[in-house]
Amino acid sequence: MLLPDGLRTPALVVDLDRLEVNLARMAAGAAAGGFALRPHAKTHKCLQVGSRQLAAGAVGLTVATVAEAEVFAEICDDLFIAYPLWADAARGARLRALRDRVRLSVGVDSADGAAALARHVGPGLDVLVEIDSGHHRTGVAPEQAGEVAAAAARAGLAVRGVFTFPGHSYAPGAGAPAAHDEAHALAAAAAALHAVGLDALIRSGGSTPSIGHIAAGTVTEARPGVYVFGDAQQIELGAMGADQVALAAVGTVVHRGPEKVVLDAGSKVLGADRPAWAAGFGYVPAHPEARVIALAEHHATLRWPGELPSLGSPLAVVPNHVCNAVNLADELLLTRAGRVIEVWPVAARGANT
Ligand SMILES: Cc1ncc(COP(=O)(O)O)c(C=O)c1O
Repeated sequence: MLLPDGLRTPALVVDLDRLEVNLARMAAGAAAGGFALRPHAKTHKCLQVGSRQLAAGAVGLTVATVAEAEVFAEICDDLFIAYPLWADAARGARLRALRDRVRLSVGVDSADGAAALARHVGPGLDVLVEIDSGHHRTGVAPEQAGEVAAAAARAGLAVRGVFTFPGHSYAPGAGAPAAHDEAHALAAAAAALHAVGLDALIRSGGSTPSIGHIAAGTVTEARPGVYVFGDAQQIELGAMGADQVALAAVGTVVHRGPEKVVLDAGSKVLGADRPAWAAGFGYVPAHPEARVIALAEHHATLRWPGELPSLGSPLAVVPNHVCNAVNLADELLLTRAGRVIEVWPVAARGANT
């Protein structure tokens, strides 16, 4: 990635050519795999990226919160809030207002959650039953999906299908097994719905490390998020090449020591994620042997074998988890051939309620 001159650092810089290639590649992969795309907008929180995903054929967008749905309703008329959200009077009012603007579906994974949605949002709301395919966060066991779906239907909700997030794909070598687990869990859940007289029209899955391993006919819809930009985790997992990563945080070298440089971009820019298997807190495209060994709020310490970059020079670090880095930024600087050509606001920054 070519870096623009004269950047005010730290800054998040996006290579627009690479972003466009990532969008087109995922759209083509979904078409070839026979499933629809409903990309997760929490990665970019940016209206311009969401619009491009829709223009590339996405059937709608996935969001992580009601507040993200409120932002993305501006550009998208079909939104899925992908977790078993708990409705109360206040959230119910926001969901009703959203339903007046867009086609809305939400996740549910309990009879109580379904009853709260019916009470505070009203009958006819589209829901998908969340199942646990191995990530062990939210979702019921596939064989319990029928019970939850029947309760939701009795409460007056419109059960459209089942969904899962195979987040256990985030480990070395885990992409293919997670896609396999996802396929089995979705099939078992669809059968459980069928047994109570309901159709799972939608079987939704997908994470960036597992999406390339989805077998034909196992999902009707996928919700990858990170693929638009990529990040150091995807490089390390082998899900994306370093030359496909479209976003980097650029800092300035403010300190040099023996085998060491320090940048003016810390956890408040890169995000603090570091899974146990990761080599560091980020990836340095200009010097892949460098390791981001420590983060303070405003500084990153890099172990740097070989000739050190000069003081005051700009240096790009690809964050470990791009969603968290973007959530910390006000704007993204879009570049082509090393020149900033546009600035896109992170419109849903902090829209986390
Ligand atoms: C419910 C849900 N769906 C889809 C995704 C997107 O997956 P990825 O971030 O691997 O692209 C996530 C990511 O956290 C998620 O939580």
